[in-house]
This record gives sequence, C-alpha cells and structure tokens, in this order.
Amino acid sequence: MKVLFNDKFIERDNPKVDIEDRSYQFGDGIYEVVGVYSGKLFKMKEHLKRLERSANELNISLPYSLEIIERKIEELRSLNNLENGIIYFQISRGTAQRNHNFPSVETKPVFVAYTKEMDQPVEQQNEGVSCILTEDIRWLRCDIKTLNLLGSVLAKQKAIESNCYEAILVRGKTVTEGSSANLFIVRDNRLYTHPANNYILSGISRGVVLDICQHLDIEVAEETYNVDKLLKADEVFLTGTFIDVVPVTRIDQTNINSGNPGPITKQIQQEFAALVG
Ligand code: PDD
Repeated sequence: MKVLFNDKFIERDNPKVDIEDRSYQFGDGIYEVVGVYSGKLFKMKEHLKRLERSANELNISLPYSLEIIERKIEELRSLNNLENGIIYFQISRGTAQRNHNFPSVETKPVFVAYTKEMDQPVEQQNEGVSCILTEDIRWLRCDIKTLNLLGSVLAKQKAIESNCYEAILVRGKTVTEGSSANLFIVRDNRLYTHPANNYILSGISRGVVLDICQHLDIEVAEETYNVDKLLKADEVFLTGTFIDVVPVTRIDQTNINSGNPGPITKQIQQEFAALVG
C-alpha cells in the first residue's frame, strides 16, 4: 500500500512526518476526504475548490496547483487499485521549530495522502440511525476544513458512548450540523438546512443534495432552525462523503417519522445513488 508524501509515493509503514510538523503540534493544516465509487473520484473538483478556499482562509500555501494535486491523488488511487472507499489528503503549514506564529516564508507545506478501502454504511442508509443532541463547542470558523477537530471528536465520542451513530450539534438554540456530516430536516414537504456560513462546513454532499432538490423541484430553505423544529420534523437526514444520505430516525428519546426513514429522504437517496453510479 502506497501513500503520498509530498511528491513521492512511499510505502505506508515508512514514517516520514517530523515531530515538529505543525499539523502534529498545532493541528495547523487542512484536509479533504473524497469518495471513490467504482474507481472514480466523486466531485473531486469541488473538493479541490474547498481545499483551496481553506488554504486561502488560513494563509497556507498549496504545494502544487489544483491540477497537479488532482493528478497525484488519481495516481495514488490507481497505484493502490482503490475501487470503493475514500482518499484522505492533508496539507500542513510545514515543519519548523515550535512557535505559535507562522514560520518563515521559506517553510514548505507538507502534503500527505492515503487511500482507504471501505464499504458504504448500507444498513444505516436503509434503516436509519439514532443520534444524540450535544452542545456545539467548536470554534467560529467551522467553514474551514482544518485538522483541528477536537469539538467534533468529543461530540462523536459522546454519541458512540450513547450507542448512537452521530452527534447533532446545537449552538445556543440553533441546530448547526452533525459532528462529521451536514444535517437536513423535512417539514411539510420542504427541506431546511443551516446556511453555509461560518457555523458549518459547506459539505460537498450537501451541495449535491441541493442540486438534487432543484432537479426534483423540492423546495429547500437554507435557514436556521431550533431543536424544537428538529424534533418535530417529518424527516431528518445526514449527508457526508461516502455515507451519502443517512436517515436519522431517532434523536435522544424522540422518534422521527415513527422511527422510519421517510419518503423524501428515500427519493433523495435514490437520486444520489444514481449520481455516484
Ligand atoms: N467530514 N460537516 C462536518 C463537520 C464534516 O466533518 C463533514 C465531513 C461534513 C460533510 O462534508 P462532505 O459532504 O464534504 O464530506 C459536514 C469528513 C468526511 C471527515 O472529516 O472525515
């Protein structure tokens, strides 16, 4: 199994990351996770665009043009014969003596990528999942896909300890998203999802669902909603890379749609599945 380390494809168990890499010491870097279906990268251009945006927002320089990054990631996929799963890639600000402020401009970003063979969570997609509600303690730039994920890590762990699939995050009275997925609710045949501002990550799968809704003539409101509206929703679902669309059928003690995936969720799932082939 090969991994990409800067410009080289090396064996997985050849550790090369310096202990003073800023990703290691500060979480000072950005990442993307792209889905691979039947050997094809799904929405890679969108992932690259988001990577570029994250880099700009944090003043991290990209090691290569987006075209070269895309070519290298595809080469890695091909080298590892990845048919179904994900490719993870991250860029750290680089390796330098530990100081909080940015290192000198000559410091080169460190680029790593690896592939992971995976099956889709078919049972969860078909049957739906349970979630907990928990406070959104993340920072105020959730729109940047940074390596700093402690707020999400703690929330997800709490969900797992409660035998749940995901934690739904609540900031003040507002429902934002899942710890590692976006959230939609359906009410009176209309979808609601948190606007793509600094309080959520603008998910690529979220964008796909918005396109699907436009195509199906389903109305979507990108507006905030509170916990009460969430719990009274007709349907709730999560979206994310490689999980695609997962119905939420229970939140804390409340069943959604009597504990079953709803018809609009299923319709969107079908369209999504057609797109990923
Ligand atoms: N997580 N919101 C958050 C907080 C996320 O971490 C993710 C993805 C999403 C969905 O985004 P997308 O549809 O682009 O995958 C929303 C990835 C998969 C991860 O951290 O592993």
